[in-house]
Amino acid sequence: MASLKGRDYIETQDLSGEEIELLLNKTTELKAAYHRGEPTLELPNQTAFLLFFDKSTRTRNAFEAGMTQLGGHAHFLDADVTQISHGETPADTAKILGSMGHGVCVRHDLVLGEGNRYMRDLAAATDVPIINMQCDVDHPTQTLADLQTMRERFGENLAGLKIAVSWAYAPSYAKPLSVPQGLITLMTRFGMHVSLAHPPEYSLIDRTVEAARANAAESGGSFEIVDDMDAAFADADIIYPKSWGAYDLMLARQDATTQAEIDENQRTCLDVNDKYKDWICDDRRMKLAKDSAIYMHCLPADRGAEVTDSVIDGPQSVVFQEAENRLHTAKAIMACTMRERPFA
Ligand code: CP
Repeated sequence: MASLKGRDYIETQDLSGEEIELLLNKTTELKAAYHRGEPTLELPNQTAFLLFFDKSTRTRNAFEAGMTQLGGHAHFLDADVTQISHGETPADTAKILGSMGHGVCVRHDLVLGEGNRYMRDLAAATDVPIINMQCDVDHPTQTLADLQTMRERFGENLAGLKIAVSWAYAPSYAKPLSVPQGLITLMTRFGMHVSLAHPPEYSLIDRTVEAARANAAESGGSFEIVDDMDAAFADADIIYPKSWGAYDLMLARQDATTQAEIDENQRTCLDVNDKYKDWICDDRRMKLAKDSAIYMHCLPADRGAEVTDSVIDGPQSVVFQEAENRLHTAKAIMACTMRERPFA
C-alpha cells in the first residue's frame, strides 16, 4: 500500500500513479469532513514552516488554514526578512527549520533555473518533507487541486477528454511558467488529450514538454503544441487559459542582480506580452469548445485581459471550486507527508 510519510512533494513527476491516487483520496475524505463540520486533527502540535520568495493569496491561506484544521501550526516566513537575504545557504536553512518543525513548504517561482534547485538543495539537507508551493518547474499543489476539480466534474476516468492549456495576455506581471508545465505533465498521465497553445516567445522548459510527450504515449492520451488559441479550444472539454512570461526573458532573470535590472526585465516581459492582446478567453472562443466545457484558471486572473468577466463569472467557470480545492489538497499533502518525531 502506498505511503508518502516523510516524502518530499516537489514535482508530481516524482510520484507514482498510486501515490497521486492516495493524495486525491485523502483530499476527498478531508473535504467531506470539512463540509460536515467534523474535526480532522491529523497533525496535532506539528509545525509547517511556509517560506515565501513571492506573493500569494490562495496558497498561503490554504496552507495556513489547512494546518490549523489539521491541529498544527503554520509559521509564515518571508524570505526577505530571514537570513536568506544575507546569504544563508539552503542546506543551513533546511537543517535549522527541519530541527524545529515537521515540514518546510516553499514558494520560489519567479526565476527560471532557481526555485526547483533551491528546493532540491533543501531536501538533501533535512529529513522533514519539503513541499513545493510553486517553483520555476511545477506548481504541484495547484495541479493536484485542478485534477481534483476535473474529477468532481467529469468523474474519476478522465481518459479521452481534451484540455486546452493556452497562453493568455496579461499586463500585470510576467507570471511563472510552472502552472502550464505542471498541467501538461500531470494531465497527460490520465489519458487526456492535452493541447498546448502559445505564441512563439512562450515556450516551456524542454524537460516538461518531453515528460508530457512520454506520459501521453504511456497513458494512451496525446500531447500537441499549437500557435493558435482557437485551435486549442476546438471541441475541448476543459479550457485553461493563463498568462506566463516569455521564456528567454524569464531565463535572463538569473543575470538580473540589481533592482533596476529586475525592473527592466519586467518591463521588457510586458512589452512582449503587449504584442498578443488578442489572446483572451472570451465568449466567442468558449463557443469553440464543447457546450459542456468548463473554464479553469489557477487565479489570480487578469480580468479583461486573460479572460472576460462574462466567462470567468459565467456558468462554465469552476474557478472558485478550484480555488477551494487548494485548501483540501494542501491538507491532504501535509497530512500524507508530515509525521511525528522521532522519525523512523
Ligand atoms: N493559484 C495560486 O497559486 O494562487 P496564489 O498565487 O494566490 O497563491
